[in-house]
Amino acid sequence: MPNWLKNAVFYEIYPQTFKDTNGDGIGDLNGIIEKLDYVKDLGCNALWINPCFDSPFKDAGYDVRDYKKVAPRYGTNEDLYSLFDEAHARGIHVLLDLVPGHTSEEHEWFIESKKAEKNEYSNRYVWTGSWIQGIAGHPYIGGEADRDGCYMLNFFKCQPALNYGFLNRTENWQLPPDHPDCIATREALKDVMRFWLDRGCDGFRVDMADSLVKEDDENKSATGRIWKNIREMLDRDYPEAAIISEWSNPEQSLKNGFHADFYLDHQGNGYNTLLRDYETDGGDHSYFKKDGKGDIMRFLHDYLPKYNATRDDGYISFITCNHDTPRPGRTLDINELKLAYAMILTLPGVPFIYYGDEIGMRYLDIPTKEGGYTRTGSRTPMQWDSSRNYGFSDADTDSLYLPQDTSEDAPTVEAQLKDSDSLLNEVKALTALRHKYPDLQADGSFEVVYAADERFPFVFRRGKLLIAVNPSAEKASAGITATGEIVHQIGEVSLNGEELIMKPQSFAVVESE
Ligand code: NOJ
Repeated sequence: MPNWLKNAVFYEIYPQTFKDTNGDGIGDLNGIIEKLDYVKDLGCNALWINPCFDSPFKDAGYDVRDYKKVAPRYGTNEDLYSLFDEAHARGIHVLLDLVPGHTSEEHEWFIESKKAEKNEYSNRYVWTGSWIQGIAGHPYIGGEADRDGCYMLNFFKCQPALNYGFLNRTENWQLPPDHPDCIATREALKDVMRFWLDRGCDGFRVDMADSLVKEDDENKSATGRIWKNIREMLDRDYPEAAIISEWSNPEQSLKNGFHADFYLDHQGNGYNTLLRDYETDGGDHSYFKKDGKGDIMRFLHDYLPKYNATRDDGYISFITCNHDTPRPGRTLDINELKLAYAMILTLPGVPFIYYGDEIGMRYLDIPTKEGGYTRTGSRTPMQWDSSRNYGFSDADTDSLYLPQDTSEDAPTVEAQLKDSDSLLNEVKALTALRHKYPDLQADGSFEVVYAADERFPFVFRRGKLLIAVNPSAEKASAGITATGEIVHQIGEVSLNGEELIMKPQSFAVVESE
């Protein structure tokens, strides 16, 4: 386990829309470098940068054309090496985004693989044995290649599936995972990882990490073996490198080599009930809505078994949001966001703040861009200050990568830095608290002290710290006696002699003597 992860607070940067330094309306690596002091000041000591590699951008860069080349629109490889250096000089680690399950249809491996003549890359992707033979249960394309066969897709039409083999084979064109050509795919992936690790990268967020071996068993054991093999390489050659999976199944991912796994917003799971439980019946039952229709038990029933089963293997990563998820500011107001972030930043594991969430940037209802569809509204340019384009870019407003929030009260970093009561300053206070107390960090213990069906508050203990949150608009008390000093609070909280009384929308961290 890389030591630095224990105290990591990540900041996810969508490179398209963070900071443009060359006036072309799209963010770039030099823009990220320019804002590293901001990231550090926010209390984040690690970055995840979404794919910044050469790509036709039919899925915003998750369709990689060249894994080893920075997309010209973001800069050069040298700019990325400088970013690593500049980040490290500030104590910030940098994860790149690794896409192991598919490439762009324009990747040179795929161009070779499509050829009629057999070559080194013929089995790099999943192909059937004939143009007329499709693939049951998977999306596939026929009629596009000289080669006599159809190929499997891993996501969009532009993303052919890389071939790591089939565990349960039913067709003769399906290779076993230990076939030399499937091993070659794994080794090619390791080569990409080594390329960036050798140049200063600190690890990877891994896209669709569970999608490698097809017709895998329900435990994903064959995909898991690939990750274990990769982890062996890291432990041996890059012990400080971290891999964090987009899997959202810590029992599988953390036992197969990942250091951390994202707890993603999947309808009905525990994380979803906290911030975005608003799609089921039209009502909003999110725990952090102040109208009090949420229920912490729905979160705990899902989270606790996962946490208990994996606490010795690695970390669960809570996120404020990501580039695939509606921003929490879509439905939560500033006070609600403060309380939600307070909990996310005091739970165990490795937390992630999505750029712009720290100021409550809104989800915008805008047309799709580069395969974003409904995700596009969470990817708009960062709002830095009150200058043109909110300081994101000098380009004409019409030529920005995506439109920006034009509302009168659109939040900006500049305005919130001046306001001691702002969301941004609350996030800074919370990250500082997390850095101050090892009990609050990834490995610190976690124990539920008070949680009950449809009741507030929720109280948990992390080492010598007692943490209580009451997101509802009603006063709440759990009849808990707590002695000690309140070292952080939001809203009004009193220990009232010794009983912890939580006023509406409040949060407290109590340090016991
Ligand atoms: C998950 C990524 O987060 C998403 O943005 C992308 O479209 C798919 N994987 C396909 O790579």
